[in-house]
This record gives sequence, structure tokens and C-alpha cells, in this order.
Amino acid sequence: MNMKTTASLSLLIAGCGCSSTASVDRGSHSPSQQTSIADESGASQDVGLAALVLDTRRKMHTRLGAIQNIGIAIALSDLARAQTEARTIASIDEPKILPEWQPFLARVRLSAEEVVATKDLTAAAKSAANLAALCGHCHEALGRQAKLEEQPLLVGGKTMAAEMMKHQWAAARMFDGLIGPSDERWRQGAERLSTIHIELAEKNTTLEISAGRIRHLALDAMIVPRGDGRTALFASLLVTCAECHGAIRDR
Ligand code: HEC
Ligand code: HEC
Repeated sequence: MNMKTTASLSLLIAGCGCSSTASVDRGSHSPSQQTSIADESGASQDVGLAALVLDTRRKMHTRLGAIQNIGIAIALSDLARAQTEARTIASIDEPKILPEWQPFLARVRLSAEEVVATKDLTAAAKSAANLAALCGHCHEALGRQAKLEEQPLLVGGKTMAAEMMKHQWAAARMFDGLIGPSDERWRQGAERLSTIHIELAEKNTTLEISAGRIRHLALDAMIVPRGDGRTALFASLLVTCAECHGAIRDR
């Protein structure tokens, strides 16, 4: 059994003091589904339990996709889209996980519902950053990082569109850093963001202030330790992205 599966199992059966097969027997699976298969070590592994592990993992990926979309939507000043994505996270239930982990998920759902309920982009940014921190808390409490796939930056060039793809990539890596949690991802994003210089085609104070603020936040992000400081900083970052996009859109 690999490390990943072990982490998932701790969500499903840790602390029950019984064998994995017995714990699944308490669930809704009928005995006919309790077929045992042998893994490489020859130990018996329950098919029902394996399915639960896969289901848990699949839901984690749904949450990840949705939360990353929430981040992008807020950065683009699109509250309605952020709320649609937040609804997805609020609606994912995991009735099969151990009662002791349910409060973690309840907090996650509550934070997602806050994004859905707010009428204000700044509040949505705060709730979204808190939401990511809550994912990170549970992963940390379970003694492991969520393994988030490496996402290489595929865009080069100096056009505004390319620079913006770099902004998006860097912000998403910082978001990964909160969710993992992962210092390495957080720093990877912050470092990239701190090196981006966008050439504004026009003299516009609002845009210049936003661009400068992004750079300052990125430099601060490189030294702020893991914890609430990062969460708050990320919320400010999303709001700053949104301010510039909002200013461009509204003129
Ligand atoms: C109740 C605790 C808990 C909460 C809350 C939680 N996770 Fe997880 N997460 C886990 C566990 C346990 C694993 C390991 C599952 C596995 O690998 O089988 C995991 C793994 C993951 C993975 C990696 C899955 C894989 O294929 O290895 C991702 C992505 C993820 N979580 C995203 C999220 C996001 C995004 C949130 C918040 C919206 C979140 N998680 C909230 C417990 C939690
Ligand atoms: C100084 C103003 C400014 C700031 C700050 C800014 N952007 Fe942008 N953004 C723009 C402009 C202008 C465009 C349109 C660029 C184009 O397509 O030519 C844009 C477009 C984008 C797009 C593409 C939108 C689409 O509809 O395809 C993304 C994604 C994006 N920005 C992400 C971000 C993120 C994430 C941040 C914050 C980390 C950010 N931007 C900060 C000015 C800004």
C-alpha cells in the first residue's frame, strides 16, 4: 500500500481499532461487494474500501479544480463565476469519512458558502483564501501534504497576454502553496510573480498602482511564514488583480 492510499485510509478508518475489512462492513456495502483481493504483499485488501479511497481522491480533485477556478474568477473580478465554482465545493459531501474529520469538511463547506453568499469581491477573496487554508489544515492534520501535480509554466514572451498568463500561473502556484500546504509551491509562485514587469501601453495611475502593488505583495510573500499571514496576503493579491481588471473593464 503506498503513502497516498495510507493517507486516504486514515480519513476513512484510522482510529477505529479494527481491520479495514471490518470497518467497511459497517458501511452501506452489501456483503456481496466485500470481495477481497490480494495485493502484492499478499495481504487482503477490500474492494469496497479501495473504491472509497478512489472516490475520496476524485472528490479532492473536484475541489482543487473548483478552488483554482474561484481564484481566477475573483482575480478577473467575476464574482458570479466564483460563486458557481464555490457552490460545487459547498455541495460535496463525504458521508463515509470518519466523524472526527467531518468538522474539517464542515468548515470547508462553510467557507465555500461564504463565497456564495457574499455580494462583495473583497469578502469573497478573503473567504476563498481561508478556504484554501482550511484544505491545507486538514492535509496537515492528517500528516501529509496533498500531492499537487507539477504545472510547468508554458507561456513565454512579453505581450500583455503572455504576462497575464504568467500572473495567473504564479498566483495559482501560491494558491497551491496554501492548499498543499507547500512552502515550495508558495515560494515558486511568489518568486515568479516578483520578477514580472508589465509594460503599460498608457499612462494610467490606477493601473500603475495595481502593478506596483502586485510586485510588493510578491516580494512580501517570499518572506512571510506559513500561516494566517500568507492567507491574508493571498486575499489582497486577488483583490489587487481584480482592481486592475475592474478598472480596465469599467472605463
Ligand atoms: C477532511 C480532511 C480534508 C479536507 C478538509 C480536504 N482534504 Fe484534500 N485530502 C485529504 C486526504 C486524506 C487526502 C489524501 C487522499 C489520497 O491520496 O488518497 C487528500 C488529498 C488531496 C488531493 C490530492 C489527491 C490525490 O490524487 O493524491 C488534492 C488535490 C486535495 N486533497 C485537494 C483538496 C482541496 C482543494 C481541499 C479544500 C477545498 C481539500 N483537499 C480539503 C483530506 C482533506
Ligand atoms: C496593471 C493591471 C493588471 C494587473 C495588476 C493584473 N492584470 Fe491581468 N490583465 C490586465 C490586462 C490589461 C489584461 C488584458 C490583456 C490582453 O489580453 O491583452 C489582463 C488579462 C488577464 C487574464 C486573461 C483574461 C482573459 O479573459 O483571458 C488573466 C488570466 C489575468 N489577467 C490574470 C491576472 C492575475 C492572476 C493577476 C494578479 C496576480 C493580474 N492579472 C493582474 C491587467 C492587469
